[in-house]
Amino acid sequence: IPVDPFDLVIFGGTGDLSRRKILPGLYRRFRDGQMPEGARIIGAARGDLDNEGFRDFVEEAVRSFVSKRKCDPETLAAFRETLSYVRVDALGDDGWDDLKAICKSDRVQAFYFSVGPRLFGPIAERLHTRGIAGPEARIVVEKPFGHNLETARALNATLAEHFDESQIYRIDHYLGKETVQNLMALRFGNMLFEPLWNAQYVDHIQITVAESVGVEGRGGYYDKSGAMRDMVQNHLMQLLCLTAMEPPSKFDPDAVRDEKLKIIRALDPVSPDDIVRGQYSGTDDVASYLSDAEAEASTTESFVAMKLQISNWRWNGTPFYLRTGKRLKARMSEIVVRFKEPPHSIFEADTGQSANELSIRLQPNEGMDLKVTIKEPGPGGMRLIDVPLDMTFAEALGEELADAPDAYERLIMDVIRGNQTLFMRGDEVEAAWAWTDPIIEDWERRRDKPYSYEPSSTGPEEALMLLHKDGRRWREIRE
Ligand code: BG6
Repeated sequence: IPVDPFDLVIFGGTGDLSRRKILPGLYRRFRDGQMPEGARIIGAARGDLDNEGFRDFVEEAVRSFVSKRKCDPETLAAFRETLSYVRVDALGDDGWDDLKAICKSDRVQAFYFSVGPRLFGPIAERLHTRGIAGPEARIVVEKPFGHNLETARALNATLAEHFDESQIYRIDHYLGKETVQNLMALRFGNMLFEPLWNAQYVDHIQITVAESVGVEGRGGYYDKSGAMRDMVQNHLMQLLCLTAMEPPSKFDPDAVRDEKLKIIRALDPVSPDDIVRGQYSGTDDVASYLSDAEAEASTTESFVAMKLQISNWRWNGTPFYLRTGKRLKARMSEIVVRFKEPPHSIFEADTGQSANELSIRLQPNEGMDLKVTIKEPGPGGMRLIDVPLDMTFAEALGEELADAPDAYERLIMDVIRGNQTLFMRGDEVEAAWAWTDPIIEDWERRRDKPYSYEPSSTGPEEALMLLHKDGRRWREIRE
């Protein structure tokens, strides 16, 4: 869908997220002809740069994070022309008049706050009171959106003083992932799954987001957050919502977000017995969490597994098992829907019959497979075996998928189009914190210590027990 000419101002334009994701993503959109004539990208930060300096910075970012094949000199030179830079002090007065002089309020305006949350308020206030942002301007804010319910509420209230909810785009980059959106297409674009998508036919659901990396030099931030705040409150919660929500009446921002909100509000409080926290240890070759995070006595979790129950008509009695962690065996994210066994078997008991399983792989190798039971070929009688109906999207879609925009570029273009469907609404974020807070407070009250797990493992043993005690098993973590 074509977009109108726009001005995109990136606060924190020379920061890490901007360098790794936002600017390379914008370059790819530019190269694919999605940036209209006259669109401008304005870097805003404290550093003493001029336009040329910023263009050099962006060119380096593009060369580092975009495949060589796409970095031809003519496109890069043309892209440089769209870029400019303003030196702005987010907490002071410097630079705001310059920014005002550049920004045109008669075109689509987007202000990306790629800065720490403590600067959200001061920037929002200056954009508004100095008349830089027009009445239709959009602001984009990154996670972490608050540290708990109280801070998230305060942030929402501050932003609301200057911008309407319809102008605020809270990013959760998981919502920009191709397969996450495909989950909605799969559920609501097919007749096959939805009639079975409930407690009557589904035994349980597993959501795994496993990472093989450690905390990667972000120890300072991570040690105050842990897996619960860093991953569960946002990314896993979004996956849970899209998997469990009722069909919205249309694919429109509020219709979708209303349904997600209902799921978060229907979550039961989680009993401490249904949660396992872990922290990775080290080996001779791999640093432990404690040395990665440079926090000697830290009890922050780098892994969490939990059993959740959604108290509503559709899911009553069907548990959702979630797990996420760093330094695990492989990088793998998937959603697995395990169906119930047929109510009565007409085959002899020892035929090895088991239940259907639909797995949706988010990364890597996006795709899905459905485990079905068939007759084992051959004359040995009616023996049953499970086989996968396997579809890797790259095989089915080839080039189309390889060229699909990544999460950030898709979300940025949605901001420009003014489509909030894939962004979190303020009440959604607050509801997620309202559910998360008591869990974390309980750990703090009990001074809970995470179990230790070895790097490249599947997490602590106790996480396996969480399912074993219910007579179930996690799917294997594998590339
Ligand atoms: C971020 C978290 O939001 O998501 C990181 O802060 C995590 O800790 C990352 O590594 C995972 O994202 P992806 O897209 O690599 O799965």
